[in-house]
Amino acid sequence: MSTPTPGAAIEAVDVTRSYDLGGTVVDALRGVSFTVSDGEYAAIVGPSGSGKSTLMHLLGCLDRPTSGVLRVGGRDIGDLSDTDLAALRNAEIGFVFQSFQLLPRQSAMANVMLPLVYAGTPRAERHDRAEAALRAVNLGHRLDHRPNQMSGGEQQRVAIARALVSRPRILLADEPTGNLDTRNGAEVMRILEELNAERGVAVVLVTHDDEVAGRARRQVRVRDGLVESDSAAPTPRHAAEETA
Ligand SMILES: Nc1ncnc2c1ncn2[C@@H]1O[C@H](COP(=O)(O)OP(=O)(O)O)[C@@H](O)[C@H]1O
Ligand SMILES: [Mg+2]
Repeated sequence: MSTPTPGAAIEAVDVTRSYDLGGTVVDALRGVSFTVSDGEYAAIVGPSGSGKSTLMHLLGCLDRPTSGVLRVGGRDIGDLSDTDLAALRNAEIGFVFQSFQLLPRQSAMANVMLPLVYAGTPRAERHDRAEAALRAVNLGHRLDHRPNQMSGGEQQRVAIARALVSRPRILLADEPTGNLDTRNGAEVMRILEELNAERGVAVVLVTHDDEVAGRARRQVRVRDGLVESDSAAPTPRHAAEETA
């Protein structure tokens, strides 16, 4: 059995994920090993249906693998109850969806405060931290706006503020610019890059955009439920250490 890798924020070891559709089984991931290191910036690319979202949901602990090991901060999530897993996810991981997933009838502030409500953070601190997170994504002028009163780019920035407010080690973003025009997409990318560079938050994003992928320090290509290539694949020296 493998041991946790030091400096690994999230570590997937030979994970699979199969969906059982009442008789038909879809093997969405067929044995993927993937490590997200602290502070890194990685782009996942690959054709539609190749398993990118399935992998992101596993890395984000929104789902559990069918087999294999998934560790977050060195802890095997297979040992955690659903409640403990939700708490770990809330503390360590921010998730940004293509479709924003904001509460439509709530203000930007209320949306961003929500993870802190779950974490039991006192009200005054919730307020201050949500406001700071919204200012960090340049939305200090939109605190009381509801999603339908904002552009798509602004809504995605609210979603990033919500992902950030718990001060996670890792930000996972599944096609965060997929529903945005070029200008708003570029603004969202600029913010993700800034959060990585200035706060050291590890960022892993899925994208269809070659230019976006090219700006990441690491590119991972997924195909047919497998990692086809990874520019940060372990070097022979690391492999030797593992078997030593
Ligand atoms: N909830 C689900 N139930 C059944 N099949 C699913 C589900 N989610 C994804 N799949 C299937 O798993 C495969 C990978 O999907 P997905 O991870 O969404 O790919 P991608 O994000 O790369 O487009 C596809 O064949 C898809 O149809
Ligand atoms: Mg997808």
